[in-house]
Amino acid sequence: MAADIEQALLQQLADSADGSIPDSGDFATAVSQDHLKVVGVIKSLEAAEMITVEDISHSRFVLTSEAQAYLSAGSPEVKLFNAVPADGITLAQLKSQLPGDVSDVGFKQAMQQRWVALDKAAGEPRVVRKVDSVTDGAQAQLAAVAAGNELPKAEADALKKRKLIKLDTWKTYRVAKGAKFATQRKRQATELTSEMIASGSWRSKEFKPFNFNSMGLPPSGGHLHPLMKVRSQYRKIFVAMGFQEMPTNNYVESSFWNFDSLFQPQQHPARDAHDTFFLTSPAASDTFPEDYLARVKAVHEHGGHGSAGYGYCWKRSEAQKNLLRTHTTAVSSRMLYKLAQEGFKPAKYFSIDRVFRNEAVDRTHLAEFHQVEGLVCDRGLTLGHLIATLQEFFSRLGMKELRFKPAFNPYTEPSMEIFGYSSELGKWMEVGNSGMFRPEMLQPMGLPPDVNVIAWGLSLERPTMILYGIDNIRDLFGHKVSLSMVKSNPICRMGL
Ligand code: PHE
Repeated sequence: MAADIEQALLQQLADSADGSIPDSGDFATAVSQDHLKVVGVIKSLEAAEMITVEDISHSRFVLTSEAQAYLSAGSPEVKLFNAVPADGITLAQLKSQLPGDVSDVGFKQAMQQRWVALDKAAGEPRVVRKVDSVTDGAQAQLAAVAAGNELPKAEADALKKRKLIKLDTWKTYRVAKGAKFATQRKRQATELTSEMIASGSWRSKEFKPFNFNSMGLPPSGGHLHPLMKVRSQYRKIFVAMGFQEMPTNNYVESSFWNFDSLFQPQQHPARDAHDTFFLTSPAASDTFPEDYLARVKAVHEHGGHGSAGYGYCWKRSEAQKNLLRTHTTAVSSRMLYKLAQEGFKPAKYFSIDRVFRNEAVDRTHLAEFHQVEGLVCDRGLTLGHLIATLQEFFSRLGMKELRFKPAFNPYTEPSMEIFGYSSELGKWMEVGNSGMFRPEMLQPMGLPPDVNVIAWGLSLERPTMILYGIDNIRDLFGHKVSLSMVKSNPICRMGL
């Protein structure tokens, strides 16, 4: 529709002798279109600089609705005059014969025109004719206005005063060819593409200007994943208990820090490629604290610090192998070594970050997941400290009842699996693993012999699944996660 009008207008401009359309109103009539639609097209062509536009102001008198009635049925003054008999009539009688508006307005006008007079001589006022006949001048003037003719100013003013006509104003436009005139509108390019640059076609393209006032699309990102919400709650609990966060930004670790420093023998099944992702490139690390490395080798081979060791030939090449860290205890190990080098001070550390295991993926296992790790390093710590610390930690998570079961880790002795009673699920469940780090691990680092470390670890996914009622880990993490779940999951409330 608008496109047809546009086409007709541009064509007419092209065809016209002086390159103009004198009046858009006439144009609209000629093409049988509503002038308002033509104006819409004109404004858009003007914005594209294809045409230039000058305003033309118009005005014209039009009849009011009262005047429309006079035009068809005669003016009230004539009606009143006709109602006055040749010998006159009392004012009261005359008024009773005519509708109120006719008698009021008609009487006033007929008096003014001196068509009738009020005779008060005989007591009761009588209306008498002053002329024999009248012509309906008002009706004739209104007919002239309706026909579009102009009235002498005095007559127009009188009709305006009687509110029988009013001035109607409107605008049309004189249109001429603009700087970018063409008979077809050029589609403006909205984007500069690499193809345009490569082919050089951008030179002949016209680009749509940016609209910097437009609001743009509301961003729909910025939602925290449930794992991140639970992580922040764990972090708050650790911080409230006086723990410091360890730097965990090294997913790639050497076997030395991930296994050897933790007194995990080189033949340990967990070091097998079935459980560990080894790196092909770079396949090996080469920088280690050599004196510490020598002490680790010695304790693996023939013990020390009250231990018999493993009695095998420890290989540096095995310790050099790079891997994706299988637990954040590798981070604890680095931190404890650092603490020993800086001169021992009591410390409480935690971390919450990603670890990797080469496991078959099923509804409760993923090849990468998050571990929550905590440790306390101080003189004279006992299993009692470990149990009390775990009780405090888990009760802040909302798990008040704990049970412990003896377990085995190469780097802790004693070791305990932690079971918690979940009131949500109404059952006991394994919630973590813990223990006291072995002297075989701590003393080669250079920590004093009376320093003990109590430590524990748990997965972040497990409590998150319980808190958010998710029973398949693949709905929580990985490529099958639904974005709407991430957007709409509630805040994390713990320990209530
Ligand atoms: N590293 C252990 C695991 O991966 C957890 C743990 C941490 C156990 C600290 C004892 C002490 O399961």
